[in-house]
Amino acid sequence: MPTQVAEIFGIEYPIFAFTHCRDVVVAVSKAGGLGVLGAAIHTDERLEIDLQWIDAQLGDIPYGVDLMMPSNYVGAATGGMEHKALREYIPDEHRQFVEKLLADAGVPELPDHLTASKKERGLRYSQKQAKGIVDIAFAHKARFLVSALGTPPDWVTEAAHARGLYVGALAGKKKHAERHKAAGVDVIIAQSYEAGGHTGEIGGMVLIPEIVDAVAPLPVLGAGGIGNGRQMAAALALGAQGVWCGSVWLTTAESELDRMARQKLLAAGTDDTARTRSMTGKHARFLRSAWTEAWDRSDTPDPLKTPLQSVLNYHSLRRIDHAMKAPGITSESGAYQLYSYPAGQGIGAQNSVRATRDVVREMVEGYVEAIARLNEQLEG
Ligand SMILES: Cc1cc2nc3c(=O)[nH]c(=O)nc-3n(C[C@H](O)[C@H](O)[C@H](O)COP(=O)(O)O)c2cc1C
Repeated sequence: MPTQVAEIFGIEYPIFAFTHCRDVVVAVSKAGGLGVLGAAIHTDERLEIDLQWIDAQLGDIPYGVDLMMPSNYVGAATGGMEHKALREYIPDEHRQFVEKLLADAGVPELPDHLTASKKERGLRYSQKQAKGIVDIAFAHKARFLVSALGTPPDWVTEAAHARGLYVGALAGKKKHAERHKAAGVDVIIAQSYEAGGHTGEIGGMVLIPEIVDAVAPLPVLGAGGIGNGRQMAAALALGAQGVWCGSVWLTTAESELDRMARQKLLAAGTDDTARTRSMTGKHARFLRSAWTEAWDRSDTPDPLKTPLQSVLNYHSLRRIDHAMKAPGITSESGAYQLYSYPAGQGIGAQNSVRATRDVVREMVEGYVEAIARLNEQLEG
């Protein structure tokens, strides 16, 4: 599939995989796509270790890194605030609400060795904090640097270009894509309503062609709800040069998720996700759960702005994650009910565990079949 974007990266298939899991990055890149490591919650140390490992596994096979460099957040005027300062902005009402939610669900406290450090490790929600992590990415062999939230700052794009990296950025609206183009971004990722993670309100059928036309001749990747070959063919028919998928990797054999978390995602239907501010303060699509539903009720506090909601949630979400790994956990447990994870509407189609390389292969085969079927129809 020699689209322009596949050619510039030197990959066989224009399938880009966003994932937090280094094993998925390597498996996708080895299968002919391009794995991109999501590092939004990596500590500096963890990112260094993961990129060293990926470099060793992939050699010169290309991969990418996705970093959080938001432009719109509390403290943006000064480049971002320290976590300690941010904590002071959190109202008691919100703290009490979260505490009660976990207590009512019977979620155990974290063991002492996990609460010893009060520091929110890996939580990075400002451009100032992004500096260190960008330098780590530059010290490794990643070929693609992607900004998750907002146009990357000029210093990042210029430094990436000087080192021969391509720069990408997600866009949920035409105006975001135009802003990225004006700032020198090379690849635009049109992230539609269906997608897992931070999303806007526009569906892919409308968003992809709108962005393709707005930023031409820049290459666009279609993102949101794409998990099989028919969906890939549809994105390319809309003018995208490739696809950028996230949710489809969550249920793979290599996924970062533990047994119970994966079980919850495998059981989820198409309508079991919600676009909610309760996780990060910005609208993001997550698995619907007792947590997202509690925050959606009219008698509960409004989620805080980014990054305050993440600072508020940090220890509670760790408590839930830890409880999900406990030996006696069942689908009736309070922690299981509260547990949520970013996931798009396409999660409803992920009902079995597959090897990552098989997901790539089946997507390519499904794409070829879809195009062949369309050709047959055209020829009558
Ligand atoms: C678990 C998960 C975490 C995500 N976190 C990020 C992130 O940190 N940065 C980012 O650019 N996109 C993030 N996204 C969005 C993906 O990059 C991608 O655009 C999206 O998953 C595509 O839609 P899909 O989930 O329907 O495949 C995340 C998605 C998922 C599923």
